[in-house]
Amino acid sequence: MHTSVASIVEEGSLLPEIGTLTNQSVDTSSYHSFMGIVSASPKMLKAFELVKRVATTNSTILVLGESGTGKELIARAIHRLSQRTGKLVPVNCGAIPEDILESELFGHEKGAFTGAISSRMGRFEMANGGTIFLDEIGEMSPKLQVKLLRVLQERRIEPVGSTRSIDLDVRVITATNKDLREEVKAGRFREDLYYRLQVVPVNLPPLRERDNDIAVLSKYFMDQSCKSMSKGTIGFSPEVQQRFSAYSWPGNVRELENLVERLAILCDGKNVQLSDLPDYLFGDSNTSGAMLPVVADIPEDGIDFNELINDYEKQLITTALEKTGGNKKAAAKLLNLNRTTLVEKIKKKGLNSSIEVLRERN
Ligand SMILES: Nc1ncnc2c1ncn2[C@@H]1O[C@H](COP(=O)(O)OP(=O)(O)O)[C@@H](O)[C@H]1O
Ligand SMILES: [Mg+2]
Repeated sequence: MHTSVASIVEEGSLLPEIGTLTNQSVDTSSYHSFMGIVSASPKMLKAFELVKRVATTNSTILVLGESGTGKELIARAIHRLSQRTGKLVPVNCGAIPEDILESELFGHEKGAFTGAISSRMGRFEMANGGTIFLDEIGEMSPKLQVKLLRVLQERRIEPVGSTRSIDLDVRVITATNKDLREEVKAGRFREDLYYRLQVVPVNLPPLRERDNDIAVLSKYFMDQSCKSMSKGTIGFSPEVQQRFSAYSWPGNVRELENLVERLAILCDGKNVQLSDLPDYLFGDSNTSGAMLPVVADIPEDGIDFNELINDYEKQLITTALEKTGGNKKAAAKLLNLNRTTLVEKIKKKGLNSSIEVLRERN
């Protein structure tokens, strides 16, 4: 349990095969693979550390993050590290209608309701000795929230239409892309259940906020796809890399993974070019749009000032560099910054990767 944890995080190197990125100062030089979850982002590494620490306990874990950020992967990693002998049983609470969800979770007896022609074991019972993963917990109806709270307190379920109760040993992991605190404030989510679930919250940042991960993961998925198709390695042109890092990736890693898989199939050349990309990638952008941040209000629990400022600086710098084809001197002029100040900021914010190549080309 203690020794295996260290070997779970392997350091990898992308450098030898990074395609057109020949500059050795690129920030995509190394990444971590934690139980198959690939990242070079400090925020993600922090999440991995937390997961390693809590996996072997029985504590209830709430995984928070936008859709496609890897919440299910994290749940699976926790279960595998926990060394619990039972199964991991996932339930998507958002996809199942309320009345069906109840018997899905807790099981039912024969004749419990119309159509219950035989008794059926619920997912909680299936997860006995293992882990239940309740995905999209923010979608759960108030009625079921009450029942779930009771189950968590008593560690015991009562199948629908049954008078017997079953004692369980189940590790509970939940996930949501909603802001549960907001849901509590709005009266849609029970506060007592919220506190019960978020004993250990694990936050997964959106892809656009993970330094270098767009470059690291696009390369990683491309290599995987090419390998599975027994195709030679395909890289990304610097312009494509720029576009990737400027795009906001609303579907996060899932979106990137699907796109790269499609590109791997369709691309015949050595490098993916801008013309290979679908139109929507040019419509939405991380970097263009409103030039002035709108500060409508500051929520009661505050904001992360430094992070917001950092994001905004990154956006301005990337926009300027895109406009100047990666020319730092021209970009500095656009921004009214000293060149050295800009260079320093680029380095600090991990924006160097594709810029270097673009600059050399221009
Ligand atoms: N860091 C990562 N490294 C490798 N694959 C990832 C990573 N994050 C997500 N994925 C992949 O992206 C897809 C979405 O991940 P998933 O865990 O289902 O996200 P979520 O549950 O947050 O919607 C899956 O195919 C998963 O394997
Ligand atoms: Mg999911």
